[in-house]
Parts: sequence; structure tokens; C-alpha cells
Amino acid sequence: MSRSPFKLSSGIPSLDKIIEGGFTQGDVILVAGQPGSGKTTLATQFLFSGAVEHGETGVYATLVESASKLKRDMLQFNWDLTKLEGERKIAVLDLIQAASEKSVATNLDMIMSSVKILGAKRLVIDSLTSMTTYIKTKEEARSFISIMTKILEEAKCTTLLLVEIPWNKTDIGSGFEEFVADSLIILESSLDRFRIKRRLYIPKMRGTNHSLDCHDFYITPEGISISTLTTAEK
Ligand SMILES: Nc1ncnc2c1ncn2[C@@H]1O[C@H](COP(=O)(O)OP(=O)(O)OP(=O)(O)O)[C@@H](O)[C@H]1O
Ligand SMILES: [Mg+2]
Repeated sequence: MSRSPFKLSSGIPSLDKIIEGGFTQGDVILVAGQPGSGKTTLATQFLFSGAVEHGETGVYATLVESASKLKRDMLQFNWDLTKLEGERKIAVLDLIQAASEKSVATNLDMIMSSVKILGAKRLVIDSLTSMTTYIKTKEEARSFISIMTKILEEAKCTTLLLVEIPWNKTDIGSGFEEFVADSLIILESSLDRFRIKRRLYIPKMRGTNHSLDCHDFYITPEGISISTLTTAEK
């Protein structure tokens, strides 16, 4: 696939197809979804493929599940994060304790110093929801996310911020995150008669002529795969 020099592969070929080749370098992309909707899988696929296929180092900051559980679960897909850590291609930061005990600014410092040390071009924060839990007001949260976005832009680090949407709800965070970020990808799980159906759609991707369709997607033993059929072709 021909890709503009400002684009980098998402690690999911079928997703690249519907976003003009990949994410725009240095962008901050919100990936929002309900429990079990595939946020962590999509984000790890992005980091793993960056490190293995594109020689781009990455940092995964986990505030939701421990680093050891994340590594164990991702081995299901043959994504060996421990090996990549040993080769200094990836760093997995376990901030699960820090989420409650330390300030958000300290967490951001730890993440940015890891990005700097590794020269990371890709970053995942899992999740923005956990990271900002202890910020008291909406105004402070908005200001924090704007500052973080600016710092990441300067670091030329393409970042996935994962956002938790409670089951049966549709609101994203506090209602401003999607305006501050460059892009928004929604992973939706809904009951379709007797089984859960996964769908992905993109309400926003700045500077990109992206698909406006709802795409069925699947979590397979190889990771995420998106149906690129448009609504009209189904
Ligand atoms: N090897 C596999 N093959 C197919 N599907 C899998 C496999 N491993 C996990 N899954 C599916 O992926 C789901 C978990 O996906 P993931 O952890 O990426 O979701 P998440 O959005 O990060 O969830 P949470 O908000 O709870 O962190 C599981 O609930 C299961 O349905
Ligand atoms: Mg997760």
C-alpha cells in the first residue's frame, strides 16, 4: 500500500485501508470502547507491529491491568512483549500503583522520560480514564490533556489514548476529550440477538479522508481484523 510519508501503519492492514494508509505521525488518537471491546488488543497490535515490522520503538503505559497480565494475555496473539523489552524495542510501564498514589503529572513525567530514553515513536496510555480519575475538575482535566497532547506532538510520538466507556453507555469521558484529540475511533460491542457483535467506526480523523461506515470487526488469534465492506456492499 502506498502511504504518505506522514502516515504510519496502525499495525492492522484492514484498518489502514479505511484511513488512507495509517495514522498521521505525532497525532493523538482516542480509542474508546466498552469493557472487552478490544482496546488493549488494538493498541498492542499497533505497538508490536511498529517494533517488529517498522523498526519503531514504543511505550505501553498500563494503569488498568498489571504489566505481567498484559504480557501474558498478549502472548495469546504471539505478541511477545517481554522479548521485545529485552531487545529495547518496547517498554511496558506498570503504573497501576501510581494511578492511585501519585499525581497525574508524575505519571506523565514517567511516561515521557520512558519515551525519551527509548526514542519511542509510538505510545499507548491504557487508559486515559484511569490516568485522569484523580483530577478534580473538568477544567483541570481539559487543561492537562491539552498540555499532554502538546508535549506528545513535540516528541513526534503517535499516541493511542484508550478511553473506557461503561457497558450500555455512549458518553466518552467528560465530553471534551474527543475535541482535544486529533482522532476518535469507537469500538462498539452490542448484542445482536444471541451474540455480541463488534463494530468499529471513526467519527473523526483530522486531515484524513477516512471511512464513514460502521465496520464489523473480529478479534482473531492473529489480532484484530476489520471488514472493509461498506454498508452498501453488505
Ligand atoms: N485469542 C483470542 N482470540 C479471540 N478473541 C480473543 C482472544 N483473546 C481475547 N479475546 C477477546 O478479546 C476480549 C478482550 O479484548 P481487550 O482486552 O482488547 O478489550 P479491552 O477493550 O481492552 O477491555 P477492558 O476495557 O476490559 O480492558 C476478550 O474479552 C475476548 O472476547
Ligand atoms: Mg484493556
